[in-house]
Amino acid sequence: MATKKNTPGSTSALLIILVTGVTLSLTMDSRPASPQNLPLRAHADADGLALTPPMGWYPWNAFGEAPQTEKLIKEIVDALVASGLKDAGYTYVGPDEGICFSRGPDGKLTSNLARYPSGLRGLGDYIHGKGLKYALYTDAGSKTCSTAMPGTKGHEFEDMRAFADWRADYIKIDWCNTEGQDIVKTYSLLGEAQRAAGRPVVHSLCSWGEGYPWKWAGAIGHMWRTTTDVCAPGQADWARAVRIAFANEKLAPFAGPGRWNDPDMLVVGMPGLSEVQGRSIFSFWCMMASPLIAGNDLRDMTRPTIDTLTNLEAIAIDQDPLGAQGHVVWDDGDVSLWAGKPLFDGSRAALLFFHGKSKARLRIAWDEVGFAAADELYVRNLWTHETTGPHAGGVDVTVGGSDVAFLRISKTKDFPIPPILVADTYLVSLRAAGSRPEKLCGTVTVANKGSSDLPPWRVDPKSLPPWLSVAVTGSGKTQTFVNTVTTAGLKKGAYHALVRADNVEPVSGRPMSALYYDVDLEVVRNVRR
Ligand code: GLA
Repeated sequence: MATKKNTPGSTSALLIILVTGVTLSLTMDSRPASPQNLPLRAHADADGLALTPPMGWYPWNAFGEAPQTEKLIKEIVDALVASGLKDAGYTYVGPDEGICFSRGPDGKLTSNLARYPSGLRGLGDYIHGKGLKYALYTDAGSKTCSTAMPGTKGHEFEDMRAFADWRADYIKIDWCNTEGQDIVKTYSLLGEAQRAAGRPVVHSLCSWGEGYPWKWAGAIGHMWRTTTDVCAPGQADWARAVRIAFANEKLAPFAGPGRWNDPDMLVVGMPGLSEVQGRSIFSFWCMMASPLIAGNDLRDMTRPTIDTLTNLEAIAIDQDPLGAQGHVVWDDGDVSLWAGKPLFDGSRAALLFFHGKSKARLRIAWDEVGFAAADELYVRNLWTHETTGPHAGGVDVTVGGSDVAFLRISKTKDFPIPPILVADTYLVSLRAAGSRPEKLCGTVTVANKGSSDLPPWRVDPKSLPPWLSVAVTGSGKTQTFVNTVTTAGLKKGAYHALVRADNVEPVSGRPMSALYYDVDLEVVRNVRR
């Protein structure tokens, strides 16, 4: 069976379904109009956070609420490092609705020490010490969704202060138990409370699309859930995940650096999903520049799950500094072509998804994916890691059932990986025991797992207190922040600094997500001048 299909703004593609009995409903995909009322500047312009989609791990998909404890989170953190996920860019990690705090009689949040014996600050220190960032969870209403934890309603400022004291770097804020609350006002107030707390955080709004957050949330936070949950805890749901991908792709015009549509956590590696389906879901999420928050049990991963989650060539599409969200160009019910994702080096991503059984063979024409019809282009298959070409006019692709062809297409043979930053630690702890002035030193080393070198990091002088100076050494792929503390004249006590550094992505010239790390100094006795 062969069908000619006309697509908006493109020539036709020849579609050949190699299976009988497949119905082709040739519906045109309707693109949303240009977004209205978008704030001119994203919230992230000020804090420099999440200029590429946040990557990390949250426990909800695998575990739900009951099994979450400090022991579990620490085991996951260790597995995240040992499995290579950290080296692939996964950074934010912590308990979700893990019954990790309650509200005391004084109205203040306190750690649940029965489940988290080190307290939530102690857990944060552990995570920072591993070179990862700390993610916590709360709710905008009176209680969290399970009702097991207090929500922030009426306590916005003190709760965000508590999260800052625990040193959270990312806060997911749910929308349960919010009857009668105005959604924009509530999340705006929470954003204000976060700024007042003085510790920049990735603000992840979670209203499952309620209130159309893509229209306004970029001025308040960095990412917003666009749909219902991708699965119930413990079990992936392929059909639901695919539905969510097709709902989320329609919001492409609203995404960009520092402001991301969030189709929920990943289900890759969870029970109920085949290896091929996991690869397809991962490809959709990367194509849509979605936050990549793994949701599987990292302590128990098959090789294919690790290979899927750590495929740097796929992650490069997600983490591309231009931050474009790919979308469906056409969809005939069984086969869909996804494009609209220009990349920083002039190449483009394209994805062909076959929803049926058996196989589909199809020719992707260059003018369907953003190039000129007559171009001669190289094609990189992001799962087989093979480059072919140059191909004139287009390329023939064969895709199996539930599978994707995830491609990067370029005028040149090179397919550079944008910066993927990995730190050895985000916490420098120093101790001055004597009363004589001394200089103490601690380092933070940041490697770039991408293929391009970085210019030197620039430390923001406003983030440095008088007792701390920072020099950046090294170049190219690995740079070290040398933190020098001068103790002369310091009084006995605990000192803290949150150091900020910025960099400019070398090829596109765009600012990269800012880097923050904590420096703690304990001065045991008063120090002479
Ligand atoms: C909601 C969110 C989920 C998870 C749970 C926790 O359902 O959408 O991602 O955080 O709450 O209760």
